[in-house]
Amino acid sequence: MKTRMTELFGIRYPIMLAGMNWLTTPKLVASVSNAGALGLLAGAQYNTDTLREAIREIRKLTDKPFGVNLALSLGDPSLIDVVIGEKVPIVNYSLGRPPEIIPLIQGVHAYGGKIIGTVATVKHARRAEEIGVDALAITGYEAAAHSGNVGAVVLIPQIVEAVKIPCIAAGGFADGKGLAAALALGAEGISMGTRLAATKEAEVPDTVKEIWVKATEEDTIIDPAFDGINCRVWRNKAAENILKKKAFPLFDAISAGLLMKNTLKMSWRQLFKTALKMRGQEAGIGRGKRGLSATMRFAIGTSLFYKAMEGDIVNGILLMGQTTGKIHDIPAIAELLERTVTEAKQVIAKLDKQIAN
Ligand SMILES: Cc1cc2nc3c(=O)[nH]c(=O)nc-3n(C[C@H](O)[C@H](O)[C@H](O)COP(=O)(O)O)c2cc1C
Repeated sequence: MKTRMTELFGIRYPIMLAGMNWLTTPKLVASVSNAGALGLLAGAQYNTDTLREAIREIRKLTDKPFGVNLALSLGDPSLIDVVIGEKVPIVNYSLGRPPEIIPLIQGVHAYGGKIIGTVATVKHARRAEEIGVDALAITGYEAAAHSGNVGAVVLIPQIVEAVKIPCIAAGGFADGKGLAAALALGAEGISMGTRLAATKEAEVPDTVKEIWVKATEEDTIIDPAFDGINCRVWRNKAAENILKKKAFPLFDAISAGLLMKNTLKMSWRQLFKTALKMRGQEAGIGRGKRGLSATMRFAIGTSLFYKAMEGDIVNGILLMGQTTGKIHDIPAIAELLERTVTEAKQVIAKLDKQIAN
C-alpha cells in the first residue's frame, strides 16, 4: 500500500506507532519498524544520556526507518540536541511553540531528516506547514492523552484541505476500517497509539493490557483536571476522585512534583521550567492562558500516569483513547499490521464494487 506517507519515510505500511511515554520502549519501536511500519520512541521521559542510549539500542535492533517523538513542553530542552546529534531519521514534535520548533526543524533538515508536527487545529496545521514541517499527525478528540475539541471525521478533511504536506490521522485508529476511513478523509496513513501498545511485544504489565481489551469506548474521560491540558484517561476511581477535587490541589502537587523530579531525574531548575512552560500550553503549536493550578495538575498527572504504567491500576491514572472499545486481543505486531492493511484493502474493494453496481 503506497501513499505519500510510505514514500516520505521509506516504509512498507502507511502506519505509525504514536510516541507514548513509558510505552514506546526501544524494543517496541524496533518491532514496529521491523514489521514494516514507522516506530516512534517518546523522548520526554528520558534525560540526555538515557535518550542517547535508547536511540542507539533501537539502531542495534533494526536497520529500518524509525523516529523520536519530543513533547517539547515536557522534556529537557537539550533532548533536541541529542536527536539532532544522533541524526534520528524522523522527528515528531508535540506540545511545542515556534521558537523551539524552528531550530529543531533546521537541525533535522540539515542532515536530511524529516519532521512530523502534531496538531489538533487548522490554525496550528497551517502554521506548522509555514515553518517547514514535512508531515502532520492530526490528533482527533478520540485520542488517548492530549487532543483538541474536534473529532477526526471533521478535523482531518479540514486540515487536509488547508495544507499541501502529507497528513497522518491520529486518535481512534485501530483497524483496517479506520485506515480505509482515514485514506477516504484525505490522510496518507494512520498513527496508532493504544492499539499498538496492546500487542505481545509491548513491555507493559499484563494488568494494563487486560484493561485495554476489556474497556469499551464509553470508559474514558477527557478533562484538564488530570494534567492541566485536556487529557483523555481511563475512567477508574482514581480518575473520578481527581474530577471531584477540582479545587486548588496544592498538597498533592507538591508531593507529585517531588516524585516526578526523582523519577525523571530532573534538577529543581528543570522541574520549575517545565511546570512554567505547561502553563502556556495548548495541544498544538500555540499559547494558552493557564494558571498555577494547571501547573500543579501537570505535576500530579505525570506521577499518576507513571504509576499506572507500572501496573498500579487502582491508584494510577491510565492514559487511554476511545479506540480501546475496538481492542479485543493482544496480537503480535506483524500480525496486527498485516490484518489492518488487508482489511483496509477489502473495505476499499467492497466500496469500489458497490459504486460500480
Ligand atoms: C501512555 C501514553 C503516553 C503518551 N505519551 C505521549 C508523548 O510523550 N508525546 C506525545 O506526543 N503523545 C503522547 N501520547 C499520545 C499519543 O502519541 C497519541 O496521540 C494517542 O495515543 C493517539 O490515540 P490512540 O491511542 O487512540 O491511537 C501518549 C499516549 C499514551 C496512551
